[in-house]
Amino acid sequence: MSDVEFPQGFVWGSATAAYQIEGAAREDGRGPSIWDTYSHTPGRTLNGDTGDVAADHYHRWADDLDQVAALGLGAYRFSIAWPRVQPGGSGPVNQAGVDFYSRLVDRLLELGIRPVATLYHWDLPQELEDAGGWPVRDTAARFADYAEKIVGALGDRVHTWTTFNEPWCSAYLGYASGVHAPGRTEPAAALAAVHHLNLAHGLAGRVIRDLAPAAQLSATLNLHVIRPASDSAADVDAARRIDALANRAFLGPMLDGAYPADLLTDTAAVTDWSFVRDGDEATAAVPLDVLGVNYYSTTLVRAWDGVSPKSDSDGHGRSAHSAWVGSEQVEFLPQPGPYTAMGWNIEPAGLTELLLRLHREYPDQPLMITENGAAFDDVVSPDGAIHDDRRVDYLHRHIAATHQAMVAGADVRGYFVWSLLDNFEWAYGYDRRFGIIHVDYDTQQRTWKDSAHWYHRLTTTNRLPDPALTPGPTR
Ligand code: FCB
Repeated sequence: MSDVEFPQGFVWGSATAAYQIEGAAREDGRGPSIWDTYSHTPGRTLNGDTGDVAADHYHRWADDLDQVAALGLGAYRFSIAWPRVQPGGSGPVNQAGVDFYSRLVDRLLELGIRPVATLYHWDLPQELEDAGGWPVRDTAARFADYAEKIVGALGDRVHTWTTFNEPWCSAYLGYASGVHAPGRTEPAAALAAVHHLNLAHGLAGRVIRDLAPAAQLSATLNLHVIRPASDSAADVDAARRIDALANRAFLGPMLDGAYPADLLTDTAAVTDWSFVRDGDEATAAVPLDVLGVNYYSTTLVRAWDGVSPKSDSDGHGRSAHSAWVGSEQVEFLPQPGPYTAMGWNIEPAGLTELLLRLHREYPDQPLMITENGAAFDDVVSPDGAIHDDRRVDYLHRHIAATHQAMVAGADVRGYFVWSLLDNFEWAYGYDRRFGIIHVDYDTQQRTWKDSAHWYHRLTTTNRLPDPALTPGPTR
């Protein structure tokens, strides 16, 4: 056992998302979402995988929560499928959908586990996309209405309400590069989506404050740790541009109540941002009890010379259309390994750097790591065990990096591993396994990987266990 000890009250959790685990895509009145449509479109996901069945959590939720309890977790982060609660994205609720989440929350409370609920983890009701999706202002109003209905039903039984998970992905991967649902490739629409997601965050945040005053309010961002390839003025400027699109486009309105001026200038050829109305930015800036941070790897950028083949290793999938609206002159360089099965570089120091940046820029803002983890090609041993040493090492090093940032002053309140279970990894389908619990998709059997045993030791001692002493079932 190492001497890295976490403070009393530090929260250990695990995270999931509705479309990735629930399945039951057409049951009990659930409506179709953009991810149903996208995954059922030939060529969009690896092997044509869909979330129709996923990890069948909709039927196995009680057993899955027993696993959360057995892991010794103090919190469980899950998302609510909007199309289960309000199938067409507007109008009356589907009571069966509300009841599902109500039972889930009640059971978590019985088990002494904090429910951390995300309102939106990418599954927009298809009807709202048909009406224009996130590039359309009315979608933000619809989202606030959905929030009112579900927060009204669950209220402050939910410990922490999170408005959005990674709005960056919804806007830029959904509407610019098209590697996520709904698969559109319209740069100006992507920036309008950025704004309407920020606006929706503020509108829903105010609803949460009103209807669940005792609950904590949060949003989760996938902030990028961006490094310039050199200290040349051109590369440093490339990093600044990407920081504006990736990070400050959300931190600005949400925490400072304004878009950064450089973002508006950098993208002026794409849009005049006239969709931002007076008062919108102030609306977006609803004070957060905690800011959720998702971290996996770092980003290396360089100013493109315009001649050599442009490198696009940004870690966000392959597309002929850039996610980086208005910054197509920036290239994304491959980084030194080692890598996970996603091809993402493993760089724990990036997490320390990110947490300390946030601490420096927003010293009074409590932080929570709402996702961190890794996909590897796990092998089930003949004895049935899964010796996922590389995942144990990844988690060990990133949790140590978190501790390092805390020692240096960052106010980090908890850590959620991504993910509880192997699940539908979006465009990569079931091919990429992020769980600390293995799922056999033929039988839906759950098996703890060594990383789950290791994490259990951490959650029950509050000290970082030595990876070499991982107490797997056969060790
Ligand atoms: C994040 C998503 C999460 C999962 C991980 C690997 O971007 O929030 O759903 O797919 O990446």
